[in-house]
Amino acid sequence: MKPINVGLLGIGTVGGGTFTVLKRNEEEITRRAGRPIRITAVADKNLELAKSVAGADVRITDDAFSVVTDPEIDIVVELIGGYGVAKELVLKAIENGKHVVTANKALLAVHGNEIFAAAQKKGVMVAFEAAVAGGIPIIKALREGLSANRIQWLAGIINGTTNFILSEMRDKGLPFADVLKEAQRLGYAEADPTFDIEGVDAAHKATLMASIAFGVPVQFDKAYVEGITKLEAADIKYAEQLGYRIKLLGIARRRPQGIELRVHPTLIPEKRLIANVEGAMNAVLVQGDAVGATLYYGKGAGAEPTASAVIADLVDVTRLHTADPEHRVPHLAFQPDQITDVPVLPIDEVETSYYLRLRVLDKPGVLADITRILADQSISIDAMLQREPEEGESQTDIIILTHLTIEKNVDTAIAKIESLDSVAGKVIRLRLENL
Ligand code: HSE
Repeated sequence: MKPINVGLLGIGTVGGGTFTVLKRNEEEITRRAGRPIRITAVADKNLELAKSVAGADVRITDDAFSVVTDPEIDIVVELIGGYGVAKELVLKAIENGKHVVTANKALLAVHGNEIFAAAQKKGVMVAFEAAVAGGIPIIKALREGLSANRIQWLAGIINGTTNFILSEMRDKGLPFADVLKEAQRLGYAEADPTFDIEGVDAAHKATLMASIAFGVPVQFDKAYVEGITKLEAADIKYAEQLGYRIKLLGIARRRPQGIELRVHPTLIPEKRLIANVEGAMNAVLVQGDAVGATLYYGKGAGAEPTASAVIADLVDVTRLHTADPEHRVPHLAFQPDQITDVPVLPIDEVETSYYLRLRVLDKPGVLADITRILADQSISIDAMLQREPEEGESQTDIIILTHLTIEKNVDTAIAKIESLDSVAGKVIRLRLENL
């Protein structure tokens, strides 16, 4: 059977892994796809590297536009990343009738609506399994495996770098900055780790999952994004004493008023399976009304795990290449005319539980003042911990866990608590999900 021809843009780690796995499992992949999948062209600025990875049979060029316009190419795999030239190339590939497979979560989270609309119009597919949680087939699960369900919420550890840092902070009791340096030395964190540690990468992925879970447009600009840079080792320790772990979660939840879409450090009960996902591993927990909770776990990055997702998309596209475009799986899981513009709720409308750490004077009436303020905002206390002051110390830490409440009530309570004479400095606030 005639092979399907693939043009690869960018031959870094994932591109190399894609070559390795396609070659190693060639026979089985062909048996699955129904015809051979061949990478026939590679574009990369580093021609020497491209030659050494791709071998002699592949056309190597530093002109990516010559690949996306090549009439011999059926599928373009975009592994360049970012929103710049990658966007131009993806749109050009679509314009030229190519299907696109991409690992580029930033591009789709920000420009996905435009890209999917262009693909729809042209009758081509844009597949993006590798964009979320690397090798975990979470896009497939959400879009197809769970399609009987009304998905209620999902919560994921979808950034390996930050999960590695949080695991190390907890294990070794070290501050964030020290662990980040170590992660960079070991090659876990990028030289510029901003997107990872500030939660942006996780928010890109959460944005894509929210769209296919709820049938809403991609709306990265509406996501609440908070990273782990301000997280203190003391809070990890206090959380542990109360039976919780702190993870950077990407959360999407359906509420009657709209959708919550948020990324932030989150306390989760240590007995939950997802609380025990350590190191650079990823996991996504999805709650559907029919199936209940389902958990997906695996490697969120790396050459072969990400190649596994890229090649799964290549197989899917190859199988559906000749199918009527109207009868393929829709890009965002719901039929394009059924995508609904449900609002993404602002963070002060979010409903969750809270961890509050207060530095207080150790004297009568302090706790009574604080609990009165919380009660006035209808915030119910779930648990409390007071650190025993050291010998001669006049201040101590109080940790309060709340039941579910609306964020703006907590904002008001925090402002009032901070204005008490008996409270020193800022209140540390973290969110808590019982999942
Ligand atoms: N930088 C990401 C992470 C991997 O640390 O998980 C690619 O999505």
